[in-house]
Amino acid sequence: MATEAPARAQTWNPDSYGTHARFVADLAGAVLEWLDAQPGERILDLGCGDGVITEALARSGVHMVGVDSSADMIEAARARGVDARVMDGEALTFDREFDAVFSNAALHWMTRPEAVVQGVARALKPGGRFVAEFGGHTNVAAIITAMRAVGLRRGGDVSLAGPWFFPTPDEYRALLERNGFEVKRIGLFGRPTPLKTGMAAWLKVFRKPFFDQFGAEADAAVAEVEELLAPSLRDQSGNWTADYMRIRVEARLAR
Ligand code: BEZ
Repeated sequence: MATEAPARAQTWNPDSYGTHARFVADLAGAVLEWLDAQPGERILDLGCGDGVITEALARSGVHMVGVDSSADMIEAARARGVDARVMDGEALTFDREFDAVFSNAALHWMTRPEAVVQGVARALKPGGRFVAEFGGHTNVAAIITAMRAVGLRRGGDVSLAGPWFFPTPDEYRALLERNGFEVKRIGLFGRPTPLKTGMAAWLKVFRKPFFDQFGAEADAAVAEVEELLAPSLRDQSGNWTADYMRIRVEARLAR
């Protein structure tokens, strides 16, 4: 009997995301300060996920629209009362309608960044702002390297270990500037991120396609990655920390 090839695309389960990745929204305080959303503004949340941040902004009087490519996440966002739509971030269809576009922990999943930034530029009113935080250069480097080592050892597809877009600030600044933005501020900083529910859970939520390729051996592969990472990312009490690096940026579209 032919077995179906494991899916290569990342998929999301809102329940498991809520349990193992709630820190993503909890850690968004600084980028929300940069956004400085005002009641009455119309703001697009690009890659809104399950809509936790979108809902909080809407409650403060901002007219929010959330988009995400995951239908399951959009369903979860709608259940919170968010105006949420399934849309590919690399093919945004809005036209000069938002005061700001906001994005937290989503842009690194979109591997055609030029198309994303062009869509953001089209979505903004002239002079509108783009405020985002996402993974930057060297983000989760140790985790990716450990996955690649296990992939090599097991004869797997190592390209599935790290499919993300993690630019340097210089690269991202250049991308914005050639698409009509003026960069107000941009920086790359380390944000060691405690994983309260552990490394295995993080690996299974955020890099599912890599482990799915090993079929019945998926859990064994997860355990091997953990073993490689433990000396550097697990403390003596057994707590895990992920080696996150973030880019935070505020840019304005020309008038
Ligand atoms: C991040 O938020 O930086 C991230 C999330 C999942 C995989 C890789 C990076």
